[in-house]
Order: sequence, then structure tokens, then C-alpha cells
Amino acid sequence: VIAIVWLGLLIVMSWLKALVIARPLEQIQESLQAATPGGKVSKYDLEAMAAELQATILQLLRKEQEHENALASSMARAEQLACLGEMAAGLTHEIKNPLAAVMAALETLVQDAKRGEAPQPEILAQMLRELQRAHKTLDRLLTLARPAKPQRVKVDLAKLLREMATLFEPRARRRNITFEVRIPRALPTLEADPDLLSQLFINLVTNAFQATPPNGAIMVSATPFPQNDGVAVMVSDNGCGIPKENLPRVFEPFFTTKEGGTGLGLAIAQQIASQHGGTIRIDSQPGQGTQVLVLLPVQVQRTTEEP
Ligand SMILES: Nc1ncnc2c1ncn2[C@@H]1O[C@H](COP(=O)(O)OP(=O)(O)O)[C@@H](O)[C@H]1O
Ligand SMILES: [Mg+2]
Repeated sequence: VIAIVWLGLLIVMSWLKALVIARPLEQIQESLQAATPGGKVSKYDLEAMAAELQATILQLLRKEQEHENALASSMARAEQLACLGEMAAGLTHEIKNPLAAVMAALETLVQDAKRGEAPQPEILAQMLRELQRAHKTLDRLLTLARPAKPQRVKVDLAKLLREMATLFEPRARRRNITFEVRIPRALPTLEADPDLLSQLFINLVTNAFQATPPNGAIMVSATPFPQNDGVAVMVSDNGCGIPKENLPRVFEPFFTTKEGGTGLGLAIAQQIASQHGGTIRIDSQPGQGTQVLVLLPVQVQRTTEEP
């Protein structure tokens, strides 16, 4: 009895199988035959169809790739827009606010003039300060967007660094920050753009001052590196340091953690270093300090130079 039941089950199963799998296949074959003028589908027709199917799948895959590319570029665009948003915030602080202050001051001056009064010197001085701030931001933005082609001359880097450092001495005194400049009497002469190099180091030292509390210490040191074919300059501070998660982002244009920062200082510094065939790297211990190392070759390798 059991054997008969088993046999019955087997028959039902194979019938089901035929219905579920073979039937659709038959249907396909039937409809193919109906669609073919000769009423018969040969092996070659099937091969041709397989080839067509393959082509269609490839096409679909390509479409998908295109779609992905479009997605990627729209993401890049979204990133650009986000960047623009951040930039707008920076611009508001650095340009719109100074302009508003200047307009308000001018209104006061106009009122004064109507009453026949002389302009008040402190208002004029404030206007000048605000305009200088706006001018500086625009300058930096333009520098980054359209980097100046370096005007290379022979540069005495030791002299350039000492002169740059004197700009910060009043600030160091005011905030009681120990500001040390340790530069050997002679450093290799670089073939470089002195204005751009000053800008680079001013940006780094400015950051150091902004990160360092009163009574802190900042040091600029330099040494020939690796031999006399290059120079290493280090700007170090014992200020607030950079949180680990921010470190990969500090060179991004517009990345800033400062109220009213533009986030352009390091982006410009890096641009200038690479224009001179050099590199910048940053090490930082959060809460303890930051070291920014700039390596510059004496001569820019012609291959790394922009056309
Ligand atoms: N010496 C430093 N110490 C601590 N943080 C720094 C230092 N230099 C740069 N940073 C960080 O990197 C960010 C980007 O610097 P930067 O590009 O010069 O823009 P900004 O100074 O306008 O913020 C700063 O906002 C700060 O968070
Ligand atoms: Mg800065």
C-alpha cells in the first residue's frame, strides 16, 4: 500500500513539475514558432536571440552605469552646493557685515556733513578696518579660485621668515605669548615666489596664534632638508590642538571651526606649497598643540610644475 501511495505521490510531483517548469518553456517555444514565418525555431534562431538578449542586458547595464555616473555627478554638485552654502556663511561674516558697518558709518558721516560738522576720525578709522577685512577675504577667495602664477626669483628664506615673524611680534607681546624664531643664519636659497611664500607662512603662524592661549608658546624653526636641496620649516604651537576627526578635513577649502573663520588659510597654504613642489603635513595632539611641517625643494622639479 505504501509503495502505491509513494508511486502516486511521485506521479503527482512529476506532473506538477511538468506544469510549473516545462509548460512555460513550451509556451515560449510555441509563441516563438508562431512568431517565426517558417513556423519553426532553429538552433540558430535561438542563438541569435540569446545574442540579442545579451546585447539588451549589456545596454541595460550601461544605462545603469550612466545613471550611476549621473548620480555621482549630481552628488558632486550637491557637495559643491553645500560648499557654496558654507562659503556664503563665511562671506556673510567677512564681507556683508563689514559692508553693513561701513554703510552705517557713512550714514553718520553724511548726517554730520549736512550739519557742517567734520568727519569723526574714529568713524573713519573703523570704516577703514571693516573695508580692509572685506578686502582681505575677497583677496583670499580669489587667490584660491585663480592661483597666481608664481613669479620665481632667488629667495633668501631665512630673511623672509625673520621678516614675516616681525609682523607677529606686537601680537605676541600683547598676548604674552612666547614667540620664538629659530632659523640658522643661512638656509639654502630657494627659487620661489617670495610673496606667495610669505602668504603661506603668515597663514600658518596666524592659525598658531589663534589656537594658542595667552602665556602659550609658538615657534617657527627651519633647517636644510634632506640635504641642501630643500628646506623644512616647522610652525609649532602649544595651543588647543586639532581633534582627530577634524585632522583629515583641515585642508578642505571652507573647513573652519572658528567663529567667522573662512577656512581658506590652509587650503591656500597647501596650494602655494604644491606650486613650489613642496608639501605640508600636520601633526596635532588635541589639548596640547600642533606642528605644521612644510617641506620645500630648492628648485621646483620641472615635471611637477604646471604648464
Ligand atoms: N595651529 C592650529 N591649531 C589648532 N587648530 C588648527 C591650527 N591650524 C588649523 N587649525 C584648524 O584647521 C581649521 C582650518 O584652518 P584654516 O584653513 O586656516 O581656516 P580658518 O583659520 O579660517 O579656520 C581651523 O578652523 C582649525 O580648526
Ligand atoms: Mg586660518
